[in-house]
Amino acid sequence: MALATPRQRALAALVALLVVLTGLAALTGRTGWALAGLAVLLGYVAGLLLDLRHRQQVAARSQRRLEGTVEQAVSSVAGLHHLLEQHGAGLTALDDGLRALVREEAEAAAGRHRETTHRLSRLDYEPVNEVQALLQLLPKVQGAVPLPPVGGWALSAGSLLGLWDVVERERPRTVVECGSGTSTVWLGYAARAVGGVRVVALEHNAAYAERTHALLGEHGLLDVAEVRHAPLVDVEVDGATMRWYDAGRLEDVSSIDLLVVDGPPKSTGPLARLPAVPLLRERLRPGAVVVMDDAHRPDEREALRRWSLSDGLELERPLSRDAVVLRRTSPSA
Ligand SMILES: C[S@@+](CC[C@H](N)C(=O)[O-])C[C@H]1O[C@@H](n2cnc3c(N)ncnc32)[C@H](O)[C@@H]1O
Repeated sequence: MALATPRQRALAALVALLVVLTGLAALTGRTGWALAGLAVLLGYVAGLLLDLRHRQQVAARSQRRLEGTVEQAVSSVAGLHHLLEQHGAGLTALDDGLRALVREEAEAAAGRHRETTHRLSRLDYEPVNEVQALLQLLPKVQGAVPLPPVGGWALSAGSLLGLWDVVERERPRTVVECGSGTSTVWLGYAARAVGGVRVVALEHNAAYAERTHALLGEHGLLDVAEVRHAPLVDVEVDGATMRWYDAGRLEDVSSIDLLVVDGPPKSTGPLARLPAVPLLRERLRPGAVVVMDDAHRPDEREALRRWSLSDGLELERPLSRDAVVLRRTSPSA
């Protein structure tokens, strides 16, 4: 062991001197001095051993403290790692959620933009077409009490004129209408004009069912047209649960010649009008006509696609700017 400090070097020199003097005392027969020297040397060695033991204990304590600190550090790092992992997963989920939200909003905005552009592009000729259709419609109901408004939530004048034409050409015995209102009144007038036609309208909203019933009464059409309150219920279509009119309200209607699909409103759920044909197709007479309003909207386009694909319906022609005519050409799939 190297003697690092002057104090240690002086102590070592002192011990060496004491060993030499003790040796000399022993050799020269001074036994007393030799024993005294030996005693001092033994005391010194005992002191050294005690000091060593003390240092060992201090070192052991320091080691234990150090081990405890290292253990704590390791567990803190592990905790931090875990926290980071959790936080990271949360951030990724948040990021994915935000991206999906932005995508949905962008698609909705694009849809609204398309719709607005579509409507704007028709503004220059559409009002004129509607006036023209009304000019042809009104003489058919001369003397009628005030008629409910056309367009907006109700069928346009163009669609009503087209529908009148379908009733005249097809001479249906039974007309079922999904979604009542102005169109029920016009269908009633068309039924009266043609003769032998019965109109049954389904209405999910009790207040509008009453309103349409009152309108039919005011126009004296209750003998040819009726509205039935049919709340929306869960129905199964292609393995999916959807909401549609309670078809139990049509139990007595076994054969349909003309089906007008203008409800339930879009606000009641996605593909709101899709169930009409799958649920009524068994009652659609071969050759029966189906009129679908709002045919340009994505949900209605999807319904039309599925009806053509699986329900034996064929798209025949446009009825007006918004509605189309389909015909049942084959038995249901
Ligand atoms: C697209 S609208 C069509 C109603 C009907 N086919 C027509 O053309 O008058 C569908 C739903 O609007 C609701 N409705 C009826 N009369 C309404 C009115 N005056 N204002 C707002 N909504 C009405 C009814 O619940 C109806 O089933």
